[in-house]
Amino acid sequence: MLNRAYRGILLALLGTAFLPNAYAAPDAAQDARPTAAIMLAQTCAGCHGTEGYTRGDALVPLAGLPKVQFINAMQNFADGTRQSTVMGSIARNLSAKEIELMADYFASFPENPPIAKGSKP
Ligand code: HEC
Repeated sequence: MLNRAYRGILLALLGTAFLPNAYAAPDAAQDARPTAAIMLAQTCAGCHGTEGYTRGDALVPLAGLPKVQFINAMQNFADGTRQSTVMGSIARNLSAKEIELMADYFASFPENPPIAKGSKP
């Protein structure tokens, strides 16, 4: 028979086998978008809409913008190659890493918002 200490060690080892599952948040697996990207993108939502979708055509939607196009636009705003009203100062204050995170984030949405069944287009 196993003595008490040995059994304790065995149970502890068995327990660690399940640790990765215990720590993974349930929605983390379903939503691959990093939290940092979601938070950064929220600073753009006032003008570019939630998840990059705008209502009407008054402003530029970012959802579905290809990654390369997004990064080029931000770099061109930052260095003044592309004229802008507000985007120059916004782009200059973002790091390359932050821009890349947002490029992946906005590119991960379809260009047109999915229309809920029964809602008006
Ligand atoms: C105060 C409103 C405002 C906010 C906030 C804002 N934008 Fe903009 N964005 C604009 C406007 C206006 C334009 C058109 C260019 C210009 O005049 O600056 C634009 C254009 C762009 C474009 C070019 C789109 C295209 O199709 O070429 C990108 C990319 C962009 N914004 C990204 C962002 C990101 C990323 C953020 C958040 C970090 C952000 N914007 C926050 C107003 C805003």
